[in-house]
Amino acid sequence: MEEIRIGLIGHGFMGHEHEKMLTETEGFRVVGIADMDPKQLEDVKEGLKRYTSNEELFRDPEVQVVLIAANNNQHHDLVLQAARAGKDIICEKPVAMSLEELDDMVRVTKACGVKFTVHHQRRLDRDFRTAKEIFDQGSLGEVYTIKSSLYGFNGNMHDWHVQISEGGGMLYDWGVHLLDQILWMMPGAKLTSVYADIRNVINFEVDDYFKILMRFDNHVTAEVELGTYFLTDKMHDKWFERHWFIGGNQGSAYLDGFAPEGKIVRTAGLLKNVGGERTMTAAGPTRSFGPPPEGKILTEPVPLADTTHKGFFENYRRAYFGEEEFLVQIPETRRVLALMDAVRESGRTGESVRFE
Ligand SMILES: NC(=O)c1ccc[n+]([C@@H]2O[C@H](COP(=O)([O-])OP(=O)(O)OC[C@H]3O[C@@H](n4cnc5c(N)ncnc54)[C@H](O)[C@@H]3O)[C@@H](O)[C@H]2O)c1
Repeated sequence: MEEIRIGLIGHGFMGHEHEKMLTETEGFRVVGIADMDPKQLEDVKEGLKRYTSNEELFRDPEVQVVLIAANNNQHHDLVLQAARAGKDIICEKPVAMSLEELDDMVRVTKACGVKFTVHHQRRLDRDFRTAKEIFDQGSLGEVYTIKSSLYGFNGNMHDWHVQISEGGGMLYDWGVHLLDQILWMMPGAKLTSVYADIRNVINFEVDDYFKILMRFDNHVTAEVELGTYFLTDKMHDKWFERHWFIGGNQGSAYLDGFAPEGKIVRTAGLLKNVGGERTMTAAGPTRSFGPPPEGKILTEPVPLADTTHKGFFENYRRAYFGEEEFLVQIPETRRVLALMDAVRESGRTGESVRFE
């Protein structure tokens, strides 16, 4: 099998992940690695080149594709340099810090005739793909709401992710994935308006909480909420929570966790007026929020999606040799960046923003 030969820039957290993943994926070979901090190259595997500079990597004729896993604020310059050296490019997310940067990158990569895509491997997360499959199957009827949430329970944000100049903050970090997932889930739907609350709860420089409401022209309202400072005292078993809720007029779907446990819940008396019984609660008597009549609620298992992140590179390989399209198209990443701008604007003004 013809190998795709990769030069990796940035050997931090994600660079190590890429080195491991590409070593385990058939059809790829990591030729060598560059990092501006020589300490980061100390544990580069035997047999791989350790470049003393990015330029040395760009000059290496063995390298066909440059995989950029450096800090967010470096992506623009590194993509331009790689393109001008005639290398194809996979860039980590967020592809750029702004639309202007991305437009510049598109102009240069096009002019240089190189392939350019972005590592949005969370399109292959099992929880997301399960949610997407439920949505695509239409078994919930007309979907009116989708909620995607992620909560961290120790308040941790680390290294340059707390510095604004380096491209820190949770919107650039996880936000870009969570928004990409929602947009890619419903590719044909226009996003008409966006309302967002985005805050620095405990960080001085960068956002560590956001709640984003998106209204689409297919009548779905999607909500994405992330917080790193939802504290818990469950010290040993709960460091995060990841949830999806999808509500349709023929059922509700719940997913919990990245390798999700989930269920679809329906009422047997669908679309009929279900008689409410008077139930006493601490807040007084209720009918709508009391228990359902015996036998009305039905629970079904969810069809769990069978995907792994390796699929990103398997697609990359097929697309590289012209057998299919790249999973991640640059205009899609541009739409996510534009949405992030709308999120910031809404957060600043407190008003919803018209989008498409
Ligand atoms: N797709 C994902 O799931 C995912 C997960 C984590 C991080 N990331 C992305 O990967 C990138 C790196 O994040 P990280 O968490 O690995 O950061 P990190 O700080 O752990 O590693 C970054 C490395 O890049 C090096 N570096 C910075 N600028 C450079 C330059 N100009 N030339 C050469 N080396 C340079 C640093 O010395 C460091 O070793 C970011 O864009 C981040 O958003 C993606």
